[in-house]
Amino acid sequence: MKRNISLLIVDDEESVRDSLYNWFIEDGYQVEGAANAKEALSMLESRNFDIILADIKMPGMDGLEMHRRIKALNKDAIVIVMTAFASVETAVQALKDGAYDYVTKPFDPDDLSHLIRNAANQILLKTENEALKNRVSLENIEDIVGNSKAMIKVLKEVESVSQSHSSVIITGESGTGKELIARAIHSNSSRKFFPLVTVHCGALSEDLLESELFGHEKGAFTGAMFNRKGRFEMADGGTIFLDEIATISGKMQIELLRVLESKSFVRVGGNKEIKSDFRVICATNRNLKKLVEEGLFREDLFYRLNVVNITVPPLRQRTEDIPLLVGHFIRKYCNSMSRDLISIEPAALKQIEQYDFPGNVRELENMIERAIVIGNGKEIRLKDLPFKKDVIEDSTDSLSDLEKKYIFQTLKKYDWNISRSAKALKVDRVTLYNKIKKYDLKQPKS
Ligand SMILES: Nc1ncnc2c1ncn2[C@@H]1O[C@H](COP(=O)(O)OP(=O)(O)OP(=O)(O)O)[C@@H](O)[C@H]1O
Ligand SMILES: [Mg+2]
Repeated sequence: MKRNISLLIVDDEESVRDSLYNWFIEDGYQVEGAANAKEALSMLESRNFDIILADIKMPGMDGLEMHRRIKALNKDAIVIVMTAFASVETAVQALKDGAYDYVTKPFDPDDLSHLIRNAANQILLKTENEALKNRVSLENIEDIVGNSKAMIKVLKEVESVSQSHSSVIITGESGTGKELIARAIHSNSSRKFFPLVTVHCGALSEDLLESELFGHEKGAFTGAMFNRKGRFEMADGGTIFLDEIATISGKMQIELLRVLESKSFVRVGGNKEIKSDFRVICATNRNLKKLVEEGLFREDLFYRLNVVNITVPPLRQRTEDIPLLVGHFIRKYCNSMSRDLISIEPAALKQIEQYDFPGNVRELENMIERAIVIGNGKEIRLKDLPFKKDVIEDSTDSLSDLEKKYIFQTLKKYDWNISRSAKALKVDRVTLYNKIKKYDLKQPKS
């Protein structure tokens, strides 16, 4: 995390002040000390500190009174009070007044470091996301985190496209946040008080998709026991989000084109024209333009849909967002599991920042959730992450052993589908067959 966090230590005992000072300088903070409340307050009048670590019992001014004055000078300051065990009641009063936490003396330096690191994470997350929100005037995007140039560009595009009713195609690798972006467009448009209806086109067969989109009349096919509204009808006034648009069949492409041109359709098995006023947003992780060139996607439909294109970049091209996302997911999952907020070990964060995330933000999110579940409840450690130690460095495997393992893993990943595995391995199918023979690889019986 980039910004330097500033810390003010207020304690009348010089030895305490000095040891805390040295301790936190080593942890990488900007640290200053004050010997009493008066000195602290006069420092706070001329500059802001992010975190104030203050003894509650000092001669001159009562700690509670000092805390109130600090808050009056800077309501966002995080104040942690230090207290002797005997005066915990006072500390609790400080919490009621809005202090962040308290520690009892004598304290364990590791616990204190941990507490400060959590507070620092909160500050960084807050300020960086505030910076983002200042640059784009979008509402309802609390769940979108990111402050990289690439992400700001995407959000600027969201901002401008949300003012119109044009069709949008959102492209990007799996897990980059396409669905989040679609929601942001809808909830910032004039259609936000009407439904956003999502259809996962890839998950449905042609017949199901057809009745899902257009609805059906009672008796239209076996099992159609009632009249049913389709998604286009439900999206009247709002937005329809067609996810995985590249998967729809040729026939559906024609039908979709017709609906987009006429804004009307008939239910399956029906004959009445139904009108609906919807906006279309599509998403795909494929290169649609290329599919058009290959004759797999209709060009006329492509141009209908692709009035505006928004490309969400893969996470590895915006690694600056990683620490923010990590903080965001830590908060999300600690909250949902009703746990105390935890922090992350610097070595673990570093490893995450170096990883290339083929599964993008979704993979990062799953990684953090898992680490919280299996972790020690205090911080995410390197060993809570699914990174293997460097394969080459600490294995005695020969090059061909490694190749064998890698091919086996790839085959497993693609369910022993030779074409897809070969593609993933960037070899042709014959080469892959030969390797399978050479290494005597067999699909395990399940
Ligand atoms: N910028 C972001 N900030 C916070 N969370 C994010 C961000 N981007 C993605 N996520 C989270 O990552 C997960 C995947 O996002 P989403 O479902 O939108 O991806 P997608 O591009 O639609 O993926 P797929 O192509 O596989 O459908 C979601 O849980 C989402 O909340
Ligand atoms: Mg999606």
